[in-house]
Amino acid sequence: MRNSSKPVTACLSSGKGGVGKTSLTVNLAYALAQKGARVLVVDGDLGLANVDVLLRLQVQTTIQDILDRGADPLEAVIYVEPRLGVLPASSGVPDLANLGPEDHQELGEILRSIGGHFDIVLVDTAAGIGSSVLWFNTFVDYNILLLTPDPTAMTDAYALIKVLSRD
Ligand SMILES: Nc1ncnc2c1ncn2[C@@H]1O[C@H](COP(=O)(O)OP(=O)(O)O)[C@@H](O)[C@H]1O
Ligand SMILES: [Mg+2]
Repeated sequence: MRNSSKPVTACLSSGKGGVGKTSLTVNLAYALAQKGARVLVVDGDLGLANVDVLLRLQVQTTIQDILDRGADPLEAVIYVEPRLGVLPASSGVPDLANLGPEDHQELGEILRSIGGHFDIVLVDTAAGIGSSVLWFNTFVDYNILLLTPDPTAMTDAYALIKVLSRD
């Protein structure tokens, strides 16, 4: 779709959990891949991964393995279709939910490096306004915020926008 080595990056966040981030990320990725784009889905819910569950993937290597023991990021990517790759995260790892600045920098380098193999990178983030959610939102080109008519979903999305705008 594009020839540039820098992909378009977008992150899907909401503040509140359960509004459909993971579902939309995965469906959007399929739709874009069907249109001919090479799409990478990054499970940015680093400590409570969900993308692999939704897609029923057999995960061998996660973002945690890349950060902790230098696993090869390209080997971690699981292709669910020829043009649709998934970079999985781990589940039940509290430390990963709020990485520090050094890990974020390393993650940024990893995403820039494997991102070169794709046209579009979509990051499905965790709920909340934790450090990794904020970092992913500053890393990407486009911020997509999801909310439902539920007043708490509106409040949380507004709070996230406010924090991002302030920072
Ligand atoms: N557009 C939709 N309409 C109805 N239910 C949805 C929709 N999108 C997601 N869901 C359901 O809502 C629940 C939460 O979806 P999920 O994508 O896991 O949300 P999140 O990632 O924001 O926590 C799931 O049970 C999912 O099947
Ligand atoms: Mg989710």
